[in-house]
Amino acid sequence: MISNDQQSIHGQWSSRWTFIMAATGAAVGLGNIWKFPYLTGIHGGSAFVLVYILCVAALGIPMMMAEVMIGRRGRQTPINTMRALAQENNASQSWQLIGWSGTLAGMLILSYYSVIGGWTIGYIIHSATGSFSGLNGEGASALFQEFVGSPLIQVGWHTLFMIITMYIVGRGVQSGLEKAVTYLMPALFVLLLTLVGYAMTTGYFMKGLAFLFTPDFSHFSGTSMLTAMGQAFFSLSLGMGTIMIYGSYVPKGTSIASTSVAIALADSMVALLAGMAIFPIVFANTLEPGAGPSLIFETIPVAFGHMAAGMLFGTLFFVLLLVAAWTSSISLIEPAVTMMIENFNMTRKQAALWTGLATWLLGLGTAFSFNLWTNVKVFGMTFFDLLDFLTSNLMLPIGGIGIAIFAGWLMTKDTSHAELNMNTEAGYSLWQILIRFIAPIAVSIVLIHAIGVF
Ligand code: TRP
Repeated sequence: MISNDQQSIHGQWSSRWTFIMAATGAAVGLGNIWKFPYLTGIHGGSAFVLVYILCVAALGIPMMMAEVMIGRRGRQTPINTMRALAQENNASQSWQLIGWSGTLAGMLILSYYSVIGGWTIGYIIHSATGSFSGLNGEGASALFQEFVGSPLIQVGWHTLFMIITMYIVGRGVQSGLEKAVTYLMPALFVLLLTLVGYAMTTGYFMKGLAFLFTPDFSHFSGTSMLTAMGQAFFSLSLGMGTIMIYGSYVPKGTSIASTSVAIALADSMVALLAGMAIFPIVFANTLEPGAGPSLIFETIPVAFGHMAAGMLFGTLFFVLLLVAAWTSSISLIEPAVTMMIENFNMTRKQAALWTGLATWLLGLGTAFSFNLWTNVKVFGMTFFDLLDFLTSNLMLPIGGIGIAIFAGWLMTKDTSHAELNMNTEAGYSLWQILIRFIAPIAVSIVLIHAIGVF
């Protein structure tokens, strides 16, 4: 049944602004501040940044529009939305596979996201107790190694992060958190600007900028290309139904195009600011840009360790990062939770408990991949690396191809034209070209190339 003029049974945003805040809350998270800088570092800087920005503009924005549109028309969980819309368009029922794989991807991502979220909790404590004061690069690395080296500490913070996430999810997303985000996201933005300000005083600011923005393809490979594309999907929360489910709460008449552009711009700004804050600190302290997942945990403490009132600001920074991580983690599990409610007749609390428990259990693999299991490798990757590769680089782009084909080819032009309701015909035509041809073809080529079939 298509309930187009009706609301989703799970509710509706009170305004376009609430939707922008919630979707930005889902988009801005560890992906921007933790993952973007470390991937940029590993893949040699500017070329990665350039490809990432291209992917956001040419693939991310049209795909976000497609996901919001599908969600708003279906008004159910991704799985049931895909089923209903497939029926409406006389398409095969197997389209609901996109919903299933997205729901699974969300849980897989959350399982490791929660471990990194736990790191931010640990670092709040470190900062508040003065561990950063006067710290140099070497000291920061040692602190981090000691921190991740302990399985007990890793499991402890991971458990706490999951409990709080599932508690919020169990109570329903709207209460409290939505309001808090309206203040906390701008606060995070201001603190990032403060960090960029500090980076300017290191004497290595220009070197940092050059690393990010002077085109240099010498360290760029097919894998880099795939990673940059995967990161665009990850950072915008695309390809798995998060945006679809948030779209299902969007009131009719909201402009999908301008809203999507606003979300993508805000998300990319945060990522670029994080890069501009971190790389000057890396170079000033002779740290390794390609350090990997530890990068921000080795650089940001150095910055706060040398700043006036650094203890206060450092603590605040990690608190805000934690909040940003929570608003994203909630969106990662929301498809699974609503699926349990709609398809298995559970209450929201039961659904939160069971999905949370399963995700927590899987997260232990990531928690141990930094200590007990550092040497356990499949295809040369640790458990964490493998999970990240599988989700960001395979599941999200493949989900994205499916969504693009569905929105571009199976939904009728009349439907998408009316749903998107764009100001100009040219804008609609551009969207059609991007979603029908460019997105599926470009994503497929990158995938096939990187997986080595060429
Ligand atoms: N975009 C979030 C971040 O950058 C993570 C996230 C939330 C996500 N929901 C998602 C990633 C859905 C992929 C799919 O931290």
